[in-house]
Amino acid sequence: MTSYGDAAFSLFLRKAFIKAAGYSDDALDRPIVGIVNTTSDYNPCHGNAPQLIEAVKRGVMLSGALPMVFPTISIHESFAHPTSMVLRNLMAMDTEEMIRAQPMDAVVVVGGCDKTLPAQIMGAISADLPTVVVPVGPMVVGHHKGETLGACTDCRRLWSGHRAGEIDAAEIELVNGRLAPSVGTCMVMGTASTMAIIAETIGLTVPYAASIPAPLAERVRSAEASGRVAAALAVSGRPFPSELVTPAALRNAMVVMQAIGGSTNGIIHLAAIAGRAGHAIDLAEFDRIGREVPVLVDLKPSGEHYMEHFHEAGGVPRLLAELTGFLDLTVPVIGGGTLADRVMKREHMHDQHVIRPLGQPLKAQGAMAVLSGNLCPRGAVIKHSAASPALMQHTGRAVVFESVADLAERIDDPDLDVAADDVLVLRNAGPKGAPGMPEAGYIPIPKKLAAEGVKDMVRLSDARMSGTAFGTVILHVSPEAAAGGPLALVRNGDRIRLDVAGRRIDVLIDDAELARRAAAARPAVERPERGYAQLYHDHVLQADQGCDFDFLTATPAAADDIEEA
Ligand code: FES
Ligand code: MG
Repeated sequence: MTSYGDAAFSLFLRKAFIKAAGYSDDALDRPIVGIVNTTSDYNPCHGNAPQLIEAVKRGVMLSGALPMVFPTISIHESFAHPTSMVLRNLMAMDTEEMIRAQPMDAVVVVGGCDKTLPAQIMGAISADLPTVVVPVGPMVVGHHKGETLGACTDCRRLWSGHRAGEIDAAEIELVNGRLAPSVGTCMVMGTASTMAIIAETIGLTVPYAASIPAPLAERVRSAEASGRVAAALAVSGRPFPSELVTPAALRNAMVVMQAIGGSTNGIIHLAAIAGRAGHAIDLAEFDRIGREVPVLVDLKPSGEHYMEHFHEAGGVPRLLAELTGFLDLTVPVIGGGTLADRVMKREHMHDQHVIRPLGQPLKAQGAMAVLSGNLCPRGAVIKHSAASPALMQHTGRAVVFESVADLAERIDDPDLDVAADDVLVLRNAGPKGAPGMPEAGYIPIPKKLAAEGVKDMVRLSDARMSGTAFGTVILHVSPEAAAGGPLALVRNGDRIRLDVAGRRIDVLIDDAELARRAAAARPAVERPERGYAQLYHDHVLQADQGCDFDFLTATPAAADDIEEA
């Protein structure tokens, strides 16, 4: 804090200004809990944030501390151009610097829409002030013609039906008003649900905070309880987020991510969170965990149900009870105690079918597999729990799209040379390429094939995919094409072989030919002329390192081991 060489004068000055807002000396002479306000008209997912913030303030004040609400930027998946992912690091910087800049003893971050919790956790770790995470909670489900609907797995499924001519314009318009029936985050196991569950697993939230539906009174009481915990942290000064985000807690997060059928985006955000605390996510270990830990949670897109059902089934505490054998329960959690204290006791368990027991998993293996091969020297990811079993071993002809724009222009061209057993390839859609690694990896089935009833094809890209999507989609190819990755070298007609059991994705051409093509390759992406876009281009790390900026990780990460485009 600026003292102008006179600390007493600095305090005098700050008090003079804050009194302008009507605060008394009694109010100011208390521990301060900062509360991050991510309310925005552009962020309908955070529509309940004002009510939650009021409840957090109440909890803080009932505990004798002073709440101070302050804004940061807010990011919604559908209203952030060019992608929400580009802005995640900006939000993380905003959160970190405003926590650091202003006087406070502890902080509560309120968020939920996909990028906001990772950004806030990343910022909080770097600021390293005691932090309580308050997710806004998932939306409740919608209904249409007796069917349960949710954002946005069903958005994609029903839109595909519309594209294929099965659902007419009037009906799809009706459905549009029923997919997101309340405030809160997407209520399938997308990125928002995944990251809220990860935050609870790491112990950054109060129990059940990940799953209580956004519109419920229980959610508001949970926020009040979070305020009380934050007030206690403001007095005790511990634990710091970096004391919770440990290798053991990160490993627990990987176990849970596999067991919930989590979003592929989750592993990128977890790598970024780890990097802020000076740790790395080992993708090979994540894959090994996935071979041992089955999918237990029956939620869309891997299964059938929605977050409110996960909550009724017992939420994270119930899931932890099923997974105890895989977890390190000695890790500390916010508010005192260890993760063991959060595990639901047997006597509190009721019969339910959403969180399966270990012996009756939804899928025998975890949600995600990490692939290697000559197309992805630093790995690629497939969410095989939400893919077609028939395509897990597949060889097909490459049909290549140079960019997201090229894809949009040609995918529905009736003259496109494409068949159902081809492999759709999208490149220059990675962190630098697009830029911002858009969720374009869920390449639509070409219209002419969709009309013939083709529902899934092997799709490969350096992009991401929405956590709510279903399909045989290989993502996060690293390094990306625009950073000199070999995905840039694939040509139409090359044969690509996917072998999920063998954890490989390869283009079937020899190394000499690949080297010849590499020598002739030209960079496809230009450096932006100015501003944040340029900063992003110059400093973003690849997907395996969480797409954070190289200068924001705890131990400066090596961005230079990839070829600069
Ligand atoms: Fe906000 Fe899905 S759009 S969580
Ligand atoms: Mg999403």
